[in-house]
Amino acid sequence: MSDSPVVEVRELVKTFRIGLLRKRVEAVRGVSFKVQPGEIFGLLGPNGAGKTTTIKTLLRLIFPTRGEIRLFGQPVRRELMRRVGYMPENPYVYQYLKPLEFLDLCGRLTGIPRRERDKRSRELIERVGLGHAVDRRIGKFSKGMMQRVGLAQAILHDPELLILDEPMSGLDPIGRKEVRDLLLEQRRAGKTLMFTSHILSDVEVLCDRVVILQRGQVAAEGKLSELLRGDVAQVEIEAVGDSSLGAALGEIEGATIHQAESRLLITVPEAAKDATLRRLLDAGASVVAVRPHRRSLETLFVEDLEELEEDVEEDAQES
Ligand SMILES: Nc1ncnc2c1ncn2[C@@H]1O[C@H](COP(=O)(O)OP(=O)(O)OP(=O)(O)O)[C@@H](O)[C@H]1O
Ligand SMILES: [Mg+2]
Repeated sequence: MSDSPVVEVRELVKTFRIGLLRKRVEAVRGVSFKVQPGEIFGLLGPNGAGKTTTIKTLLRLIFPTRGEIRLFGQPVRRELMRRVGYMPENPYVYQYLKPLEFLDLCGRLTGIPRRERDKRSRELIERVGLGHAVDRRIGKFSKGMMQRVGLAQAILHDPELLILDEPMSGLDPIGRKEVRDLLLEQRRAGKTLMFTSHILSDVEVLCDRVVILQRGQVAAEGKLSELLRGDVAQVEIEAVGDSSLGAALGEIEGATIHQAESRLLITVPEAAKDATLRRLLDAGASVVAVRPHRRSLETLFVEDLEELEEDVEEDAQES
């Protein structure tokens, strides 16, 4: 296997023109990133950030306005698509087919020999948890069931690179866990995975590296562990005492305090931990737990967005 990135996007720009006036929509504005072999890579960002547009340009479903895209170290060509599995945001499936018939059709389109097609289709339908629904038409499937068909379709030809647009959307917590396990299994089999998601807990569990897009630009990039580093800057202290405990403690700088009867939950900056604990003990409290409090990816999203909005406002004021 070569060491070149499986996906390489350089200075990608995609501008749509809409309406009679050909108004410009700058969906992607100079995005660059690489996905390395064997990685699970997350492309994140709020609605309209440009995730789907970026993915579609990788697959040549739409053409970049500017920029360069390489897959497996080569410029994107039709032949390379056999090595890629894709699950679209809204999988398009033939409503009147049953799941095995649909997979058979997909398998034929990607040139999988009949016997192998049959075997893999059956295995995969079970694997994505649709074994009970083989006799039903896809048109009557729920959103989550449809997602599972889409996923089976993407994996059917055993591609080296899996590109999944919102694979968790529409799934209940158990469904999400099943899909997570399936993706991890793909990685163990040596595949490279790239997916978009809004469900940050899934991203935290799965991704080795992420790019966060905002309004068509890269707002943050890196290993999740690095993006979340500095997170342990806060600790959460749980304590019990009598109901006057909160009042006895008084103000603690930088702390948020929640009290429910005898139970106190205090979040303080790491630096104030010892002093807070001392005050709690002096006030007659019993400390139940001290936990590092990770700034979740969610706040990273929000904070970055707020910064971006401030920048935009400043730009507007300057001009
Ligand atoms: N075919 C199109 N014609 C015009 N504008 C488009 C087209 N496709 C996308 N856009 C615009 O480009 C921007 C980015 O859209 P995109 O679908 O890539 O966002 P996204 O990050 O996938 O969002 P979501 O989380 O909602 O799926 C949006 O402003 C969208 O309206
Ligand atoms: Mg999208």
